[in-house]
Amino acid sequence: MRALLTVFSLAAVLKLDDANAARVLGLFPHTGKSHQMVFDPLLRTLAERGHHVTVVSFFPVKNPPENYTDVSLEGIAGLGLEVIDLAMYENGNVLLKMLGLDNIARQLLDFEPLAEMALDVCSKLVSFPPLVEVLRKDYDVILVENFNSDCMLGLSHVYGKKVPVIGLLTSSLMQWSADRIGVNDNPAFVPVLSAHYTSRMNFYERLENTFLNVYFKVWFRYNIQLKEQEIIERHFGRRIPDLRDLAKNTTLLLANVFHSLNGVRPLIPGLVEVGGMHLNHKRSVIPPYIERFMNESDHGVVLLSFGSLIKTSTMPEYKERMIISALSRLKQRVIWKFEESEEEGTLEGNVMKVRWIPQYDLLRHKKVLAFIGHGGLLGMTEAISAGKPMVVVPFFGDQPYNAAMAEEVGLGVQLPYEQLTEESLLKAVQTVLSAEMRLSARRVSKIWHDRETKPLDTAVYWTERVIRWGYHDKLYSAARDLNFIEHNLLDVAAAFVLAIIVLVLIAKLLLTAVLKIFKASISGKDKEKLH
Ligand SMILES: *[C@@H]1O[C@H](CO)[C@@H](O)[C@H](O)[C@H]1NC(C)=O
Ligand SMILES: *[C@@H]1O[C@H](CO)[C@@H](O)[C@H](O)[C@H]1NC(C)=O
Ligand SMILES: *[C@@H]1O[C@H](CO)[C@@H](O)[C@H](O)[C@H]1NC(C)=O
Repeated sequence: MRALLTVFSLAAVLKLDDANAARVLGLFPHTGKSHQMVFDPLLRTLAERGHHVTVVSFFPVKNPPENYTDVSLEGIAGLGLEVIDLAMYENGNVLLKMLGLDNIARQLLDFEPLAEMALDVCSKLVSFPPLVEVLRKDYDVILVENFNSDCMLGLSHVYGKKVPVIGLLTSSLMQWSADRIGVNDNPAFVPVLSAHYTSRMNFYERLENTFLNVYFKVWFRYNIQLKEQEIIERHFGRRIPDLRDLAKNTTLLLANVFHSLNGVRPLIPGLVEVGGMHLNHKRSVIPPYIERFMNESDHGVVLLSFGSLIKTSTMPEYKERMIISALSRLKQRVIWKFEESEEEGTLEGNVMKVRWIPQYDLLRHKKVLAFIGHGGLLGMTEAISAGKPMVVVPFFGDQPYNAAMAEEVGLGVQLPYEQLTEESLLKAVQTVLSAEMRLSARRVSKIWHDRETKPLDTAVYWTERVIRWGYHDKLYSAARDLNFIEHNLLDVAAAFVLAIIVLVLIAKLLLTAVLKIFKASISGKDKEKLH
């Protein structure tokens, strides 16, 4: 037995140099293109380092490296690209606003579609032959997106996968992520993902934050996790372990955030910040008509883009006019990513609408001075990396929080969409174009870049570390295995209160007894006197 153990641990030690040629499986069942853009560089780099990488996703890569196998989910669900209609942001609910509940309502509604998407994809995945074929093979580690679904965890279990799981996040932790590795998400100072405030909250914000922290955990449990469990069990006709327990076997979470942009939260070894790991620092060719437009601007260029999910052309005509008139009062030229424009851009005065922009290349161009964006984390990450100040016009999800953080760290200013007017936009752009703000953005950028290792190298290191040691290297905190009562010390608080009550009762009894004795002795003395 001992000999066997020695051989075993020797093998484990030898594995140190032997994270080589591991078999890596990546499972990405979400339909948002921007999400996959974060994971691709890590997966590609792992293959280039000699691992055998199999990736299941909606977005197969072009020219995959050697030993990289793509399994496409294309066709099983609609893709998330330019799907958000801006018309729905026109009429905020006046009553909700009066009651101060508009922000809560937005957050509750923002998450609703995620459940439907997750269940739709899950119900297709259970019987998708290419996935079944992939899951029948053996792997050394599984990388899975930690977003709106745990379906893949259930399916991996069905096919007998007993290897460490790494969860990848394109953003900060989801509300239901923290418990699976036991990281502190105390709502007194850790804002929920969709918050519109940062970590210093007043009483009302803490109330809202605490409610949402609990609500989203319960919401995920009942609207997604349990339903996915049911989908899987119904399809395979047998019970599987609770998806919540499978989720708790997550070895590591890699989140595409970094504290100097996304705020400080308590970390544990199993939660590693790799913000910016997706940035490709190689320069690509800027289309000549865009470069010419920039070259010919004497006062620099401002970039405007609402990202890949929002369909800019659904913006009401009056708002588009308003933005154009605000921007026409700048001496800078403006490049606006706008799907409905001509092949070589549509020019309106100093504004050029362009169907697609190589955003990060433009942001790093010396002529580009500032960026007006929607606060999607990828665009924000590109802006902070390039050191360009931003006006953030947030819409949904984590964008209001990102906007608030941009302001807090000195990267820019926020301007809520419903407060967007010609004057407010002009003022915001002029603020970020000021020498002070541009200097501040450069400083914030340097701080953000200042790390022990580059974020992609950090992600590779931790992935290979998990490949080397797996379950032997515990990265989670014991909080993972506590229930709600234990975790929040409610039992200890109850014991404490009980102890006080008991002490008070005892004290009272004693006092009564002492008084009685005292009275008795006095009356005894009185009686003596009488005799
Ligand atoms: C791909 O895998 C084969 C077989 O394991 C190996 O010999 C080869 O070196 C790998 N290629 C790269 C680029 O790592
Ligand atoms: C979780 O991982 C451990 C290895 O540490 C394994 O023994 C256990 O069976 C796993 N639990 C589930 C529910 O898969
Ligand atoms: C823009 O200017 C740079 C150098 O200032 C030059 O190399 C490039 O060719 C110019 N591009 C266009 C399309 O005019």
